[in-house]
Amino acid sequence: MLPQDVTHKPGQSAIFLVYALNRPDETAPIKAILAELPALTRSLRGRFPGQEVSCVAGIGATAWDCLFPGWKKPKELSPFVEIRGEKHVAPSTPGDLFFHIRASKMGLAYEVSGLIAETLGDSVYAIDEVQGFRYLDGRAIIGFVDGTENPELLEDALKFAAIGDEEPDFRGGSYAFVQKYLHDMSAWRALSTEEQEKAVGRRKYDDRELPEGVKPENAHNAVTNITGPDGEELKIVRANMAFANASKGEHGTYFIGYASTFATTRKMLENMFIGDPPGNTDRLLDFSVAHTGTLFFVPSQELLAALAEGD
Ligand code: HEM
Repeated sequence: MLPQDVTHKPGQSAIFLVYALNRPDETAPIKAILAELPALTRSLRGRFPGQEVSCVAGIGATAWDCLFPGWKKPKELSPFVEIRGEKHVAPSTPGDLFFHIRASKMGLAYEVSGLIAETLGDSVYAIDEVQGFRYLDGRAIIGFVDGTENPELLEDALKFAAIGDEEPDFRGGSYAFVQKYLHDMSAWRALSTEEQEKAVGRRKYDDRELPEGVKPENAHNAVTNITGPDGEELKIVRANMAFANASKGEHGTYFIGYASTFATTRKMLENMFIGDPPGNTDRLLDFSVAHTGTLFFVPSQELLAALAEGD
């Protein structure tokens, strides 16, 4: 089973689209776009070689039941349950359909989003659209390089992002979790570089990891560094993008994490928002507010085609 493009790099430009179904019984336009998507992106890749056009499609828990009655459901696909810590909240927000469009030029990403919107028509309404950009040398909008500790080898990325034998009916699928964060840049900029580095756990200029003893326990890369029962490191594949509207004072990170099991992403979130031990919350959250939080299932390419065909 071939996964969708869940292991691709974040890219230069991205559009994140979250839709809700307007009428649960009107599924034809949705199935039509899910069926056509591979051909649409293939055509654009052929016409614009080297521009890295791709589009991942995901389905939310409620929509799964409406769109594919009679099909089994991925075992961890249910609406995201908000995480409420003493100080920070990771809210749960609705979403039925999700598209993660990537291309080296925003115009090409727009082309895909426009074709999707044209086909979906009024069978859906948009909940959220974020246009993200690669910031400088791959930095989050807060000025730190983002993505360094992602699994590097394709083999590792696939292991962490795509389902294997643990859920045989959904092999090649992936759990995509998205969150739209806005940052308080005035407060963030008021910190010294050393204080910012302690919040992230890496040096700002050259991206070197802070050594043990210097890196605080509430650094972002300390709380999100988690291990499994045998002490092995558990990872997800992140493809975050920066977004901004500087004149309005809006500076954000669109977080997206692909995982073979949502439990890994959820544990990272719990560590950030509640803390392990409780209270050791992520220092980044003192400058970042999560405004959305939605879980989608990204079927393998073969399953997506079968679901769209309805067989
Ligand atoms: C406020 C939004 C966020 C920003 C600006 C952000 C930014 C960063 C940066 C700059 C790094 C260090 C470089 C790297 O290894 O990528 C990092 C690491 C990481 N982040 Fe985030 N991140 C955000 C949210 C999240 C969320 C919600 C999760 C998980 C659910 C997460 C998971 C991770 C992981 C697993 C690492 C690597 C940790 C390690 O070194 O082992 N991040 N992030």
